[in-house]
Amino acid sequence: MLGFTYYTPTKVLFGKGTETKAGELAASFGAKKVLIHYGSERVRKTGLLQTVEKSLEEQGIAYVELGGVVPNPRLSKVYEGIELCRKENVDFLLAVGGGSVIDSVKAIGYGLYNGGDVWDFYDFKRVPKGCMPVGVVLTIAATGSEMSNSSVITNEDGGIKRSCNTDFGRPRFAILNPELTATLPEYQTMCGCTDIMMHTLERYLNNGGYMDLTDGIAEHLLRTVMKHARILLSDPTNYESRAEVMWAGSLSHNGLTGCGSDGGDWACHRLEHELSGLYDVAHGAGLAAIWGTWARYVLDSNPARFAKLAVNVLGITPQEDDKSTALEGIAAMEEFFRSIHMPASLTELGVNPTDEEYKILAHKCSLATHDNLGSVRKLHEDDMEAIYRAAL
Ligand code: NZQ
Ligand code: ZN
Repeated sequence: MLGFTYYTPTKVLFGKGTETKAGELAASFGAKKVLIHYGSERVRKTGLLQTVEKSLEEQGIAYVELGGVVPNPRLSKVYEGIELCRKENVDFLLAVGGGSVIDSVKAIGYGLYNGGDVWDFYDFKRVPKGCMPVGVVLTIAATGSEMSNSSVITNEDGGIKRSCNTDFGRPRFAILNPELTATLPEYQTMCGCTDIMMHTLERYLNNGGYMDLTDGIAEHLLRTVMKHARILLSDPTNYESRAEVMWAGSLSHNGLTGCGSDGGDWACHRLEHELSGLYDVAHGAGLAAIWGTWARYVLDSNPARFAKLAVNVLGITPQEDDKSTALEGIAAMEEFFRSIHMPASLTELGVNPTDEEYKILAHKCSLATHDNLGSVRKLHEDDMEAIYRAAL
């Protein structure tokens, strides 16, 4: 077990109707003028936007709005947001939506606080010294961005998808009403469940430190998400299942399931970010498509860890050696992904890279990770290319 810092400053309001408290919460963090940031006009059609507007008005808080955030959020929208907030003297940022909206609002916050070109923070040129305060009304359980230190933005110029990770970007508050996620299409629900699982798997499958307590939390979180993903397949408005998955999403990426570890592996995430950067696929689906191939590629570096996952999470009976147990576990995980209609290969994802694209994917991933990726096994550019090719 390794030492760790656990920092989760986000105030969470969980349950039915909590979105009516957005104004009260924003006021408690000193908001005078708010940017309400959102994606499609869906949030207006469902009445959620009006509820949030009313709650701000009741607190005497002024607001401006900027919609149009798309999945795999774009840098151009971030620039637009920064300009609008400067013009309007906004002092608090409120995301109403999913990870894409939250990440976009965090990027706007970095730009406003630090000045200069905000892309510098995603391009390793500068480190932010702060971020304008952010609040969240979450509508999809997936990324955990509502409590995480991360913001992931795509620069349309080259399809470069990068993250900026600092504690300044952790939201001040997160409003989690599971009812708001009941309108999600099945595909997005399952992408979300996959992403939630992957945030814990990335931490669990590492080579640098374990803790019984953390392992137990991680394993139970994984089993819980699997159980409720299955329920949501046939009963998408099941409140209890929506709630279990939503809370798992926040806990899976706020650092809890990494306490005592070396911070995790994160190879699948980095490999996936290049896929969604180039092909604009959904993040969760991209993760499912790459995970099994990655797992088999690195397995020999730590078969015992994969075997533990197989037995404790996937219910595999221990075999004659760890590797055999682990391989059964990997196959069972892929089977699970397929059972919730997630892809377990690039072909199933609908992506068929050209020879040149395999090289581009690996090269961009290598650049983004200084050619030193992963914890279970260190991966370099040739490894990355081999994994992409084998994932077809
Ligand atoms: O535009 P709207 O209407 O909001 O539509 C969204 C979008 O089309 C829709 N949706 C959201 N809530 C809904 C809904 N549709 C019906 N009913 C609802 N209640 O779902 C679609 C996907 O939304 P998006 O925000 O893109 O999904 P997600 O939360 O999975 O975010 C994905 C982005 O976050 C990044 C991913 O790479 C990707 O760019 N990540 C961010 C992380 C972080 N900041 O900590 C960590 C993750 O590993 C991830 O990389
Ligand atoms: Zn993720």
